[in-house]
Amino acid sequence: MIALSSDHAGYPLKEEIRAYLEASGIEYKDCGAFGTASVDYPVQAKKACDLVADGTCGMAILCCGTGVGMSMAANKIKGIRAACCTDYFSAKFTRLHNDANVLCLGARVLGAGAAIELVNVFLNTPFEGGERHRRRVDLMMALENE
Ligand code: RB5
Repeated sequence: MIALSSDHAGYPLKEEIRAYLEASGIEYKDCGAFGTASVDYPVQAKKACDLVADGTCGMAILCCGTGVGMSMAANKIKGIRAACCTDYFSAKFTRLHNDANVLCLGARVLGAGAAIELVNVFLNTPFEGGERHRRRVDLMMALENE
């Protein structure tokens, strides 16, 4: 199950991604926004990230204007490893090496076609695992308690 969320700026891209998930038979929970009326990205990030943190959803996809605000907000939430990606390599390797569980995308940065390629590789790439990547992810998550 994928949690989806956006602010007003990310709404058009979120809708493109929602249509892609729907067409691909991938289950999702849509946390809004449900239109282009102004909403605050930290509020929207929390709605989706809470579903990841409590285990309801395995991953989340967040869209705002740049993807950056969403990623900053998401990374404040315990258990979240959010990556703001604009390129295929980063979207792939943040799964392989960082075990990222949230993908943040900028609707004012990326066209829908490129964004959906990033969604696709992010959702379909497993964590590589292995001692060194697990150690680094554990070290990263321990920073939450400092
Ligand atoms: C909204 O105008 C914009 O600031 C927001 O979508 C996002 O890009 C923030 O990081």
